[in-house]
Amino acid sequence: MAEREEWGSRVGFILAAMGSAIGLGNIWRFSYMTYSNGGGAFLVPYFFALLTAGIPIMILEIGIGSMTRFSAPFALGKVAGKKAEWIGWWTAIAALILNSYYMVILSWAFLYIFKSVTLAWGKDPGAYFFGNVLGLTDGPFILGGIRLPILLSFLVIVLINWFIVSRGVKGGIERACKIFLPLMWIIVLLLVIRGITLPHGLEGINWYLKPDFSKLANHKVWLDAYGQIFFTLSLGMGTIIVYGSYLRKGADVVNNSFLISLGNCGFSFLAGFAVFGTLGYVAHVLNKPFEEVVTAGIGLAFVMYPKAISLLPAGKALIGILFFFLLTIAGLSSSISLMENTVGILMDGYKLNRMKATSIVAGVTFLIGLIYTTGGGLYWLDMVDHFISYYALALVGLLETIAVTWVFGADKFREFVNSVSEIKAGSWWTVFAKYLTIAILVILLLLDIYSLATEGYGGYPGKALGIAFGYILLGMIVAYILHSKEKLDITKEVS
Ligand code: TRP
Repeated sequence: MAEREEWGSRVGFILAAMGSAIGLGNIWRFSYMTYSNGGGAFLVPYFFALLTAGIPIMILEIGIGSMTRFSAPFALGKVAGKKAEWIGWWTAIAALILNSYYMVILSWAFLYIFKSVTLAWGKDPGAYFFGNVLGLTDGPFILGGIRLPILLSFLVIVLINWFIVSRGVKGGIERACKIFLPLMWIIVLLLVIRGITLPHGLEGINWYLKPDFSKLANHKVWLDAYGQIFFTLSLGMGTIIVYGSYLRKGADVVNNSFLISLGNCGFSFLAGFAVFGTLGYVAHVLNKPFEEVVTAGIGLAFVMYPKAISLLPAGKALIGILFFFLLTIAGLSSSISLMENTVGILMDGYKLNRMKATSIVAGVTFLIGLIYTTGGGLYWLDMVDHFISYYALALVGLLETIAVTWVFGADKFREFVNSVSEIKAGSWWTVFAKYLTIAILVILLLLDIYSLATEGYGGYPGKALGIAFGYILLGMIVAYILHSKEKLDITKEVS
Protein backbone atom coordinates (compact mmCIF):
# COMPACT_ATOMS: atom_id res chain seq x y z
CA MET A 1 0.00 0.00 0.00
CA ALA A 2 1.22 3.51 -0.82
CA GLU A 3 2.41 5.61 2.10
CA ARG A 4 -0.28 7.84 3.53
CA GLU A 5 0.19 11.54 2.87
CA GLU A 6 1.23 13.58 5.90
CA TRP A 7 1.29 17.20 7.01
CA GLY A 8 4.68 18.85 6.67
CA SER A 9 4.64 20.26 10.18
CA ARG A 10 2.59 20.60 13.32
CA VAL A 11 1.93 24.25 12.58
CA GLY A 12 0.78 23.27 9.09
CA PHE A 13 -1.82 20.91 10.55
CA ILE A 14 -3.04 23.47 13.08
CA LEU A 15 -3.40 26.13 10.37
CA ALA A 16 -5.28 23.75 8.08
CA ALA A 17 -7.70 22.65 10.81
CA MET A 18 -8.18 26.20 12.00
CA GLY A 19 -8.77 27.15 8.37
CA SER A 20 -11.52 24.56 8.17
CA ALA A 21 -13.13 25.90 11.32
CA ILE A 22 -12.85 29.61 10.54
CA GLY A 23 -15.25 30.29 7.72
CA LEU A 24 -18.27 32.24 6.61
CA GLY A 25 -19.91 31.28 9.89
CA ASN A 26 -17.37 33.14 12.00
CA ILE A 27 -17.89 36.49 10.36
CA TRP A 28 -21.62 36.97 10.70
CA ARG A 29 -23.20 33.88 12.30
CA PHE A 30 -21.37 34.32 15.57
CA SER A 31 -21.94 38.07 15.79
CA TYR A 32 -25.60 37.73 15.15
CA MET A 33 -26.05 34.79 17.52
CA THR A 34 -24.31 36.67 20.29
CA TYR A 35 -26.31 39.81 19.75
CA SER A 36 -29.68 38.07 19.66
CA ASN A 37 -28.97 35.75 22.56
CA GLY A 38 -28.16 38.19 25.31
CA GLY A 39 -24.95 39.87 24.11
CA GLY A 40 -22.03 39.43 26.49
CA ALA A 41 -24.11 37.02 28.55
CA PHE A 42 -24.18 34.62 25.57
CA LEU A 43 -20.45 34.15 26.01
CA VAL A 44 -21.23 32.13 29.12
CA PRO A 45 -23.17 29.31 27.38
CA TYR A 46 -20.87 29.68 24.38
CA PHE A 47 -17.71 28.97 26.34
CA PHE A 48 -19.52 26.35 28.36
CA ALA A 49 -20.47 24.58 25.12
CA LEU A 50 -16.94 25.01 23.81
CA LEU A 51 -15.42 23.36 26.87
CA THR A 52 -18.00 20.63 27.39
CA ALA A 53 -18.69 19.62 23.79
CA GLY A 54 -16.54 21.52 21.29
CA ILE A 55 -13.10 20.64 22.58
CA PRO A 56 -14.02 17.08 23.68
CA ILE A 57 -15.45 16.24 20.25
CA MET A 58 -12.52 17.96 18.52
CA ILE A 59 -10.28 15.60 20.53
CA LEU A 60 -12.50 12.71 19.50
CA GLU A 61 -12.37 13.52 15.78
CA ILE A 62 -8.66 14.31 15.59
CA GLY A 63 -8.03 11.32 17.85
CA ILE A 64 -9.76 8.64 15.77
CA GLY A 65 -8.30 10.09 12.58
CA SER A 66 -4.79 9.97 13.92
CA MET A 67 -5.22 6.65 15.71
CA THR A 68 -6.54 4.81 12.64
CA ARG A 69 -4.96 6.94 9.90
CA PHE A 70 -8.13 6.58 7.86
CA SER A 71 -10.85 8.91 6.59
CA ALA A 72 -14.20 8.91 8.43
CA PRO A 73 -15.85 5.65 7.25
CA PHE A 74 -12.84 3.49 7.90
CA ALA A 75 -11.80 5.32 11.06
CA LEU A 76 -15.26 4.65 12.47
CA GLY A 77 -15.25 1.13 11.08
CA LYS A 78 -11.96 0.40 12.81
CA VAL A 79 -13.16 1.56 16.20
CA ALA A 80 -16.77 0.42 16.11
CA GLY A 81 -17.12 -2.32 13.50
CA LYS A 82 -18.05 -2.50 9.88
CA LYS A 83 -21.61 -1.23 10.39
CA ALA A 84 -20.33 2.10 11.67
CA GLU A 85 -18.67 2.73 8.31
CA TRP A 86 -21.93 3.91 6.86
CA ILE A 87 -21.91 7.02 9.10
CA GLY A 88 -18.64 7.99 7.48
CA TRP A 89 -19.93 7.37 3.97
CA TRP A 90 -22.83 9.62 4.74
CA THR A 91 -20.37 12.41 5.61
CA ALA A 92 -18.85 11.97 2.15
CA ILE A 93 -22.21 12.92 0.63
CA ALA A 94 -23.22 15.45 3.29
CA ALA A 95 -19.93 17.33 2.93
CA LEU A 96 -20.40 17.39 -0.82
CA ILE A 97 -23.94 18.74 -0.50
CA LEU A 98 -22.83 21.34 2.05
CA ASN A 99 -19.95 22.38 -0.16
CA SER A 100 -22.17 22.72 -3.22
CA TYR A 101 -23.99 25.68 -1.64
CA TYR A 102 -21.20 26.90 0.63
CA MET A 103 -19.17 27.57 -2.51
CA VAL A 104 -22.06 29.45 -4.09
CA ILE A 105 -22.16 31.81 -1.09
CA LEU A 106 -18.42 32.10 -1.51
CA SER A 107 -18.92 33.00 -5.13
CA TRP A 108 -21.15 35.91 -4.09
CA ALA A 109 -18.41 37.11 -1.75
CA PHE A 110 -15.89 36.77 -4.54
CA LEU A 111 -18.08 38.84 -6.89
CA TYR A 112 -18.49 41.48 -4.21
CA ILE A 113 -14.74 42.05 -4.08
CA PHE A 114 -15.08 43.56 -7.55
CA LYS A 115 -18.37 45.26 -6.82
CA SER A 116 -16.69 47.06 -3.93
CA VAL A 117 -14.38 48.86 -6.31
CA THR A 118 -17.24 50.91 -7.74
CA LEU A 119 -19.67 50.48 -4.83
CA ALA A 120 -21.92 48.87 -7.42
CA TRP A 121 -24.82 48.41 -4.99
CA GLY A 122 -25.62 52.12 -5.10
CA LYS A 123 -28.22 53.52 -2.75
CA ASP A 124 -30.18 50.36 -2.05
CA PRO A 125 -27.89 47.40 -1.33
CA GLY A 126 -30.86 45.19 -0.43
CA ALA A 127 -32.64 45.62 -3.75
CA TYR A 128 -29.31 45.31 -5.54
CA PHE A 129 -28.35 42.03 -3.87
CA PHE A 130 -31.68 40.23 -4.06
CA GLY A 131 -32.76 41.81 -7.34
CA ASN A 132 -29.77 42.56 -9.56
CA VAL A 133 -27.36 39.93 -8.26
CA LEU A 134 -29.49 36.96 -7.22
CA GLY A 135 -32.52 37.76 -9.36
CA LEU A 136 -34.62 36.28 -6.60
CA THR A 137 -37.92 34.86 -7.82
CA ASP A 138 -41.23 34.70 -5.98
CA GLY A 139 -40.84 31.18 -4.68
CA PRO A 140 -38.84 27.95 -4.73
CA PHE A 141 -40.82 26.53 -7.65
CA ILE A 142 -39.93 29.41 -9.95
CA LEU A 143 -36.28 28.94 -10.81
CA GLY A 144 -36.02 31.78 -13.28
CA GLY A 145 -32.85 30.75 -15.07
CA ILE A 146 -29.18 30.68 -14.19
CA ARG A 147 -27.46 33.96 -13.22
CA LEU A 148 -24.43 34.17 -15.45
CA PRO A 149 -22.07 36.21 -13.20
CA ILE A 150 -22.78 33.88 -10.28
CA LEU A 151 -22.26 30.85 -12.47
CA LEU A 152 -18.86 32.10 -13.64
CA SER A 153 -17.80 33.10 -10.16
CA PHE A 154 -18.91 29.70 -8.84
CA LEU A 155 -16.87 28.01 -11.54
CA VAL A 156 -13.80 29.99 -10.49
CA ILE A 157 -14.30 29.01 -6.84
CA VAL A 158 -14.70 25.33 -7.74
CA LEU A 159 -11.56 25.47 -9.87
CA ILE A 160 -9.54 27.09 -7.07
CA ASN A 161 -10.71 24.32 -4.74
CA TRP A 162 -9.89 21.68 -7.29
CA PHE A 163 -6.45 23.18 -7.84
CA ILE A 164 -5.57 23.29 -4.14
CA VAL A 165 -6.96 19.88 -3.19
CA SER A 166 -5.55 18.08 -6.22
CA ARG A 167 -2.05 19.16 -5.18
CA GLY A 168 -2.30 17.14 -2.02
CA VAL A 169 -2.26 17.51 1.73
CA LYS A 170 1.12 19.13 2.10
CA GLY A 171 1.67 20.74 -1.30
CA GLY A 172 -1.90 21.99 -1.66
CA ILE A 173 -4.00 22.34 1.49
CA GLU A 174 -1.22 23.06 3.94
CA ARG A 175 0.50 25.49 1.62
CA ALA A 176 -2.73 27.39 0.92
CA CYS A 177 -3.61 27.62 4.60
CA LYS A 178 -0.16 28.92 5.46
CA ILE A 179 -0.98 31.88 3.24
CA PHE A 180 -4.70 32.27 4.04
CA LEU A 181 -4.59 32.04 7.82
CA PRO A 182 -2.08 34.80 8.59
CA LEU A 183 -3.84 37.01 6.03
CA MET A 184 -7.21 36.38 7.66
CA TRP A 185 -5.94 37.44 11.07
CA ILE A 186 -4.29 40.54 9.68
CA ILE A 187 -7.38 41.62 7.74
CA VAL A 188 -9.74 41.01 10.62
CA LEU A 189 -7.50 43.10 12.87
CA LEU A 190 -7.52 45.93 10.35
CA LEU A 191 -11.31 45.78 10.14
CA VAL A 192 -11.60 45.75 13.92
CA ILE A 193 -9.45 48.85 14.17
CA ARG A 194 -11.54 50.54 11.49
CA GLY A 195 -14.78 49.48 13.19
CA ILE A 196 -14.00 50.65 16.69
CA THR A 197 -12.39 53.92 15.65
CA LEU A 198 -15.46 55.03 13.68
CA PRO A 199 -17.58 57.65 15.42
CA HIS A 200 -20.00 55.80 17.72
CA GLY A 201 -18.30 52.51 16.91
CA LEU A 202 -17.92 51.81 20.59
CA GLU A 203 -21.67 52.12 21.04
CA GLY A 204 -22.05 49.21 18.63
CA ILE A 205 -19.58 47.21 20.69
CA ASN A 206 -21.60 48.11 23.72
CA TRP A 207 -24.68 46.56 22.08
CA TYR A 208 -22.72 43.51 21.00
CA LEU A 209 -21.44 42.73 24.48
CA LYS A 210 -24.02 44.27 26.79
CA PRO A 211 -24.86 41.29 28.98
CA ASP A 212 -28.49 40.43 29.42
CA PHE A 213 -28.29 37.60 31.91
CA SER A 214 -32.04 37.09 32.00
CA LYS A 215 -31.77 35.45 28.57
CA LEU A 216 -29.76 32.58 30.07
CA ALA A 217 -32.89 31.25 31.73
CA ASN A 218 -34.16 30.33 28.26
CA HIS A 219 -33.01 26.86 27.20
CA LYS A 220 -33.03 27.91 23.52
CA VAL A 221 -30.02 30.12 24.19
CA TRP A 222 -28.05 27.15 25.52
CA LEU A 223 -29.01 24.97 22.58
CA ASP A 224 -28.05 27.75 20.16
CA ALA A 225 -24.66 27.85 21.84
CA TYR A 226 -24.16 24.11 21.31
CA GLY A 227 -25.38 24.29 17.72
CA GLN A 228 -23.07 27.20 16.98
CA ILE A 229 -20.07 25.42 18.51
CA PHE A 230 -20.62 22.31 16.38
CA PHE A 231 -21.02 24.38 13.24
CA THR A 232 -18.13 26.71 13.81
CA LEU A 233 -15.65 23.96 14.70
CA SER A 234 -16.58 22.00 11.54
CA LEU A 235 -17.53 18.98 13.65
CA GLY A 236 -19.83 16.19 12.49
CA MET A 237 -18.76 16.38 8.82
CA GLY A 238 -15.79 14.02 8.72
CA THR A 239 -13.43 16.85 7.80
CA ILE A 240 -11.59 16.99 11.10
CA ILE A 241 -11.25 13.19 11.08
CA VAL A 242 -9.65 13.17 7.65
CA TYR A 243 -7.31 16.01 8.62
CA GLY A 244 -6.36 14.06 11.76
CA SER A 245 -5.64 11.01 9.64
CA TYR A 246 -2.75 12.84 7.96
CA LEU A 247 -0.95 13.44 11.24
CA ARG A 248 2.36 11.76 11.72
CA LYS A 249 2.24 8.76 14.08
CA GLY A 250 2.50 9.91 17.67
CA ALA A 251 1.46 13.51 16.93
CA ASP A 252 -0.20 15.45 19.73
CA VAL A 253 -4.01 15.37 19.88
CA VAL A 254 -5.26 17.13 23.01
CA ASN A 255 -3.12 20.23 22.96
CA ASN A 256 -3.74 20.72 19.25
CA SER A 257 -7.49 20.40 19.83
CA PHE A 258 -7.36 23.19 22.40
CA LEU A 259 -5.30 25.43 20.11
CA ILE A 260 -7.53 24.94 17.08
CA SER A 261 -10.79 25.40 19.00
CA LEU A 262 -9.67 28.42 21.00
CA GLY A 263 -8.11 30.01 17.91
CA ASN A 264 -11.36 29.61 16.01
CA CYS A 265 -13.53 31.05 18.77
CA GLY A 266 -11.09 33.90 19.35
CA PHE A 267 -11.40 34.77 15.68
CA SER A 268 -15.20 34.92 15.91
CA PHE A 269 -15.02 37.10 18.98
CA LEU A 270 -12.69 39.52 17.21
CA ALA A 271 -14.76 39.60 14.04
CA GLY A 272 -17.70 40.67 16.20
CA PHE A 273 -15.85 43.88 17.04
CA ALA A 274 -15.42 44.69 13.37
CA VAL A 275 -19.05 43.99 12.53
CA PHE A 276 -20.64 45.72 15.51
CA GLY A 277 -18.26 48.67 15.56
CA THR A 278 -19.32 49.36 11.99
CA LEU A 279 -23.01 48.87 12.76
CA GLY A 280 -22.77 51.30 15.66
CA TYR A 281 -21.60 53.90 13.19
CA VAL A 282 -24.36 53.05 10.71
CA ALA A 283 -27.07 53.35 13.36
CA HIS A 284 -25.71 56.77 14.22
CA VAL A 285 -25.48 58.06 10.64
CA LEU A 286 -28.92 56.76 9.70
CA ASN A 287 -30.24 57.96 13.03
CA LYS A 288 -32.02 54.68 13.59
CA PRO A 289 -32.34 52.51 16.70
CA PHE A 290 -29.62 49.89 16.80
CA GLU A 291 -32.06 46.95 16.60
CA GLU A 292 -33.12 48.11 13.17
CA VAL A 293 -29.71 48.04 11.57
CA VAL A 294 -28.88 44.51 12.66
CA THR A 295 -30.09 41.80 10.33
CA ALA A 296 -29.66 38.05 10.41
CA GLY A 297 -27.62 35.81 8.18
CA ILE A 298 -26.58 36.71 4.67
CA GLY A 299 -28.41 40.02 4.99
CA LEU A 300 -25.73 41.13 7.40
CA ALA A 301 -22.86 40.36 5.02
CA PHE A 302 -24.35 41.28 1.64
CA VAL A 303 -26.80 44.03 2.52
CA MET A 304 -25.92 45.64 5.84
CA TYR A 305 -22.19 45.67 5.34
CA PRO A 306 -22.33 47.18 1.83
CA LYS A 307 -24.67 49.83 3.20
CA ALA A 308 -22.13 50.55 5.93
CA ILE A 309 -19.32 50.73 3.40
CA SER A 310 -21.16 53.36 1.38
CA LEU A 311 -21.57 55.46 4.51
CA LEU A 312 -17.92 55.37 5.54
CA PRO A 313 -16.15 58.70 5.78
CA ALA A 314 -13.15 57.48 3.76
CA GLY A 315 -11.57 54.43 2.13
CA LYS A 316 -14.91 52.92 1.16
CA ALA A 317 -13.69 50.72 -1.67
CA LEU A 318 -10.68 49.56 0.30
CA ILE A 319 -12.72 48.44 3.31
CA GLY A 320 -15.18 46.69 0.98
CA ILE A 321 -12.43 44.87 -0.85
CA LEU A 322 -10.81 43.81 2.43
CA PHE A 323 -14.07 42.59 3.91
CA PHE A 324 -15.13 40.49 0.92
CA PHE A 325 -11.62 39.24 0.38
CA LEU A 326 -11.63 38.10 4.01
CA LEU A 327 -14.93 36.27 3.50
CA THR A 328 -13.54 34.65 0.36
CA ILE A 329 -10.33 33.29 1.86
CA ALA A 330 -12.00 32.29 5.13
CA GLY A 331 -14.56 30.39 3.07
CA LEU A 332 -11.96 28.84 0.77
CA SER A 333 -9.96 27.37 3.64
CA SER A 334 -13.22 25.74 4.84
CA SER A 335 -14.44 24.53 1.47
CA ILE A 336 -11.15 22.76 0.71
CA SER A 337 -11.59 20.78 3.91
CA LEU A 338 -15.10 19.77 2.88
CA MET A 339 -13.77 18.70 -0.49
CA GLU A 340 -10.89 16.83 1.11
CA ASN A 341 -13.30 14.78 3.21
CA THR A 342 -14.99 13.29 0.17
CA VAL A 343 -11.73 13.06 -1.77
CA GLY A 344 -9.98 11.28 1.12
CA ILE A 345 -12.86 8.83 1.44
CA LEU A 346 -12.84 8.01 -2.29
CA MET A 347 -9.06 7.56 -2.18
CA ASP A 348 -9.26 5.24 0.82
CA GLY A 349 -12.39 3.40 -0.19
CA TYR A 350 -11.90 2.98 -3.92
CA LYS A 351 -8.13 3.29 -4.17
CA LEU A 352 -8.52 6.19 -6.59
CA ASN A 353 -5.57 8.47 -7.14
CA ARG A 354 -5.85 12.03 -5.84
CA MET A 355 -6.22 13.72 -9.21
CA LYS A 356 -9.05 11.45 -10.24
CA ALA A 357 -10.84 11.67 -6.91
CA THR A 358 -10.56 15.47 -6.80
CA SER A 359 -11.78 15.86 -10.37
CA ILE A 360 -14.83 13.70 -9.72
CA VAL A 361 -15.70 15.53 -6.51
CA ALA A 362 -15.17 18.98 -8.01
CA GLY A 363 -17.27 18.07 -11.07
CA VAL A 364 -20.16 16.64 -9.05
CA THR A 365 -20.08 19.56 -6.61
CA PHE A 366 -20.31 22.00 -9.50
CA LEU A 367 -23.21 20.15 -11.12
CA ILE A 368 -25.32 19.81 -8.01
CA GLY A 369 -24.52 23.40 -7.07
CA LEU A 370 -25.98 24.76 -10.31
CA ILE A 371 -29.45 24.94 -8.80
CA TYR A 372 -28.25 27.60 -6.34
CA THR A 373 -27.07 29.82 -9.16
CA THR A 374 -30.65 30.25 -10.39
CA GLY A 375 -33.09 32.95 -9.39
CA GLY A 376 -34.91 30.58 -7.04
CA GLY A 377 -31.65 29.17 -5.74
CA LEU A 378 -31.62 31.05 -2.46
CA TYR A 379 -34.78 29.28 -1.32
CA TRP A 380 -33.30 25.86 -1.94
CA LEU A 381 -30.01 26.91 -0.42
CA ASP A 382 -31.78 27.97 2.73
CA MET A 383 -33.83 24.77 3.06
CA VAL A 384 -31.00 22.38 2.28
CA ASP A 385 -28.72 24.29 4.63
CA HIS A 386 -31.27 23.95 7.40
CA PHE A 387 -31.33 20.18 7.08
CA ILE A 388 -27.59 19.81 6.69
CA SER A 389 -26.26 22.23 9.25
CA TYR A 390 -28.78 21.37 11.93
CA TYR A 391 -29.82 17.75 11.46
CA ALA A 392 -26.92 16.13 9.63
CA LEU A 393 -24.24 17.68 11.81
CA ALA A 394 -25.97 16.76 15.04
CA LEU A 395 -26.80 13.26 13.81
CA VAL A 396 -23.27 12.45 12.70
CA GLY A 397 -21.89 14.01 15.88
CA LEU A 398 -24.20 11.87 17.96
CA LEU A 399 -23.49 8.60 16.14
CA GLU A 400 -19.73 9.06 16.06
CA THR A 401 -19.65 9.94 19.74
CA ILE A 402 -21.64 6.82 20.58
CA ALA A 403 -19.33 4.75 18.37
CA VAL A 404 -16.20 5.96 20.12
CA THR A 405 -17.30 6.34 23.73
CA TRP A 406 -19.73 3.43 24.08
CA VAL A 407 -18.80 0.88 21.42
CA PHE A 408 -15.04 1.33 21.33
CA GLY A 409 -14.79 2.52 24.91
CA ALA A 410 -14.07 5.96 26.32
CA ASP A 411 -11.21 4.70 28.49
CA LYS A 412 -9.51 2.88 25.65
CA PHE A 413 -9.76 6.00 23.53
CA ARG A 414 -8.37 8.20 26.30
CA GLU A 415 -5.50 5.80 26.75
CA PHE A 416 -4.55 6.34 23.11
CA VAL A 417 -4.78 10.12 23.07
CA ASN A 418 -2.99 10.41 26.40
CA SER A 419 -0.12 8.30 25.11
CA VAL A 420 0.61 10.95 22.49
CA SER A 421 -0.58 14.21 24.03
CA GLU A 422 1.12 16.90 26.04
CA ILE A 423 -2.04 17.77 27.95
CA LYS A 424 -3.99 14.72 29.15
CA ALA A 425 -7.65 14.00 28.57
CA GLY A 426 -8.72 13.25 32.15
CA SER A 427 -11.97 11.69 33.29
CA TRP A 428 -13.61 15.04 32.47
CA TRP A 429 -13.39 14.00 28.85
CA THR A 430 -15.51 10.92 29.49
CA VAL A 431 -18.10 12.88 31.47
CA PHE A 432 -18.42 15.50 28.73
CA ALA A 433 -18.26 13.29 25.64
CA LYS A 434 -19.88 10.06 26.76
CA TYR A 435 -22.75 11.59 28.72
CA LEU A 436 -23.25 15.32 28.38
CA THR A 437 -22.61 15.77 24.65
CA ILE A 438 -24.73 12.77 23.77
CA ALA A 439 -27.60 14.03 25.90
CA ILE A 440 -27.39 17.53 24.40
CA LEU A 441 -27.29 16.24 20.82
CA VAL A 442 -30.31 14.02 21.41
CA ILE A 443 -32.25 16.97 22.84
CA LEU A 444 -31.16 19.23 19.95
CA LEU A 445 -32.29 16.71 17.36
CA LEU A 446 -35.61 16.01 19.04
CA LEU A 447 -36.44 19.69 19.41
CA ASP A 448 -35.51 20.40 15.80
CA ILE A 449 -37.65 17.56 14.54
CA TYR A 450 -40.50 18.67 16.77
CA SER A 451 -40.37 22.24 15.50
CA LEU A 452 -40.13 21.07 11.90
CA ALA A 453 -43.17 18.85 12.36
CA THR A 454 -45.24 21.49 14.08
CA GLU A 455 -44.15 24.77 12.49
CA GLY A 456 -42.33 23.75 9.31
CA TYR A 457 -39.38 25.92 8.49
CA GLY A 458 -39.00 29.48 7.21
CA GLY A 459 -42.58 29.60 5.93
CA TYR A 460 -41.77 27.40 2.91
CA PRO A 461 -44.50 25.28 1.36
CA GLY A 462 -44.56 21.74 2.74
CA LYS A 463 -43.98 20.36 -0.74
CA ALA A 464 -40.72 22.27 -1.14
CA LEU A 465 -39.52 21.21 2.30
CA GLY A 466 -40.45 17.64 1.42
CA ILE A 467 -38.33 17.79 -1.73
CA ALA A 468 -35.35 19.24 0.16
CA PHE A 469 -35.71 16.57 2.80
CA GLY A 470 -36.08 13.87 0.15
CA TYR A 471 -32.86 15.12 -1.41
CA ILE A 472 -31.05 14.55 1.89
CA LEU A 473 -32.55 11.05 2.16
CA LEU A 474 -31.46 10.33 -1.39
CA GLY A 475 -27.96 11.33 -0.30
CA MET A 476 -28.13 8.70 2.42
CA ILE A 477 -29.09 6.06 -0.12
CA VAL A 478 -26.23 7.07 -2.41
CA ALA A 479 -23.91 6.84 0.60
CA TYR A 480 -25.17 3.32 1.19
CA ILE A 481 -24.55 2.32 -2.42
CA LEU A 482 -21.03 3.79 -2.37
CA HIS A 483 -20.39 1.99 0.88
CA SER A 484 -21.48 -1.36 -0.55
CA LYS A 485 -19.04 -0.98 -3.43
CA GLU A 486 -15.98 -0.06 -1.41
CA LYS A 487 -12.76 -1.89 -2.08
CA LEU A 488 -10.97 -1.29 1.19
CA ASP A 489 -11.32 -4.09 3.69
CA ILE A 490 -10.17 -2.69 7.00
CA THR A 491 -10.10 -6.10 8.63
CA LYS A 492 -7.24 -6.94 6.29
CA GLU A 493 -5.38 -3.64 6.46
CA VAL A 494 -2.23 -3.62 8.50
CA SER A 495 -2.32 -0.70 10.89
N1 TRP B 1 -17.00 25.95 10.19
C1 TRP B 1 -17.42 26.55 8.97
C2 TRP B 1 -17.77 28.00 9.19
O1 TRP B 1 -17.80 28.48 10.31
C3 TRP B 1 -18.63 25.92 8.36
C4 TRP B 1 -18.74 24.45 8.50
C5 TRP B 1 -19.64 23.75 9.17
C6 TRP B 1 -17.85 23.52 7.99
N2 TRP B 1 -19.36 22.41 9.13
C7 TRP B 1 -18.26 22.25 8.41
C8 TRP B 1 -16.72 23.68 7.25
C9 TRP B 1 -17.55 21.15 8.09
C10 TRP B 1 -16.00 22.57 6.94
C11 TRP B 1 -16.40 21.31 7.36
O2 TRP B 1 -18.03 28.69 8.25
